[in-house]
Amino acid sequence: MLPDRDMLSDLSTHLDLDRFTLRNPTRRREVTLSSLRGYFSAPAALEKAISDTGDAVVYEVEVVEPKEQAPNILAYGVTRVFPGRVGNECYMTKGHFHADPTCTEIYLALAGRGGLLQMTRDGRSFFQEMRAGDAVYVRGDMAHRLVNTGDDAFVTWAVYPVGAGHDYSTIAERGFSSLVVGDESGAHLAPNPRWA
Ligand code: F6R
Ligand code: ZN
Repeated sequence: MLPDRDMLSDLSTHLDLDRFTLRNPTRRREVTLSSLRGYFSAPAALEKAISDTGDAVVYEVEVVEPKEQAPNILAYGVTRVFPGRVGNECYMTKGHFHADPTCTEIYLALAGRGGLLQMTRDGRSFFQEMRAGDAVYVRGDMAHRLVNTGDDAFVTWAVYPVGAGHDYSTIAERGFSSLVVGDESGAHLAPNPRWA
C-alpha cells in the first residue's frame, strides 16, 4: 500500500536558498541576547549588548519534526546564527548534549562562516570551522554548539533523531570548556574560566 500522501508532504519542505527559510516548519524558535544570560562568559558585556541592541536576536531555528518521538525517526532543521559578539565572544547557540547518547547528528553549512564547537562529558573540546558545503558529524555523546565567526549570518542544516532529547542543563551550568573569541586576527579558542 502507498503511504498516505498528506502525511508525507507534511514532513517534506522547500528550503528557500536566498533567505534560508523552510516553507513549513513544525516549530520555530528565536533566541535573543537576554535569553542567553549565563551562556556568555562576560555578564556585564551581555547586559550592555542587550541594552545597546534592544535585545537582538542571536539565532533562529526552524525545524520539521514528526510527532512520533523515537530514536529511529529523523527530524531536520535550519539554524541561522547572526553575526555579532558579546565582549569578544562570538554569537553562538546555547548548545546541548543529546539526552540519548546513541543519537548522532549531521550538520551541513549552507552560508556564512562559523563552525561547530564540540565537547566530551569530561570537558575535552574542539572546534571545526565550516563554510558552505562543509558537513560535520556529531557523535551522540558530544555536546555541540554552532558559532558564527564571520560578518554574515552563518546558516546550517541539521538532521537528527527526533527522540534525541536535549540536555541543556550541563552547558547552562558550566558552558563549554573553550570559548570562541574573535579579534582583528580572526577567531580562536580561549579557555573558559568556569572550567578551570
Ligand atoms: C538538534 C540540534 C539543532 C539545534 C539548533 C539550536 O539536536 O542540535 O537543531 O537545536 O542548532 O541549538 P540549541 O538547541 O543548542 O539552542
Ligand atoms: Zn543536537
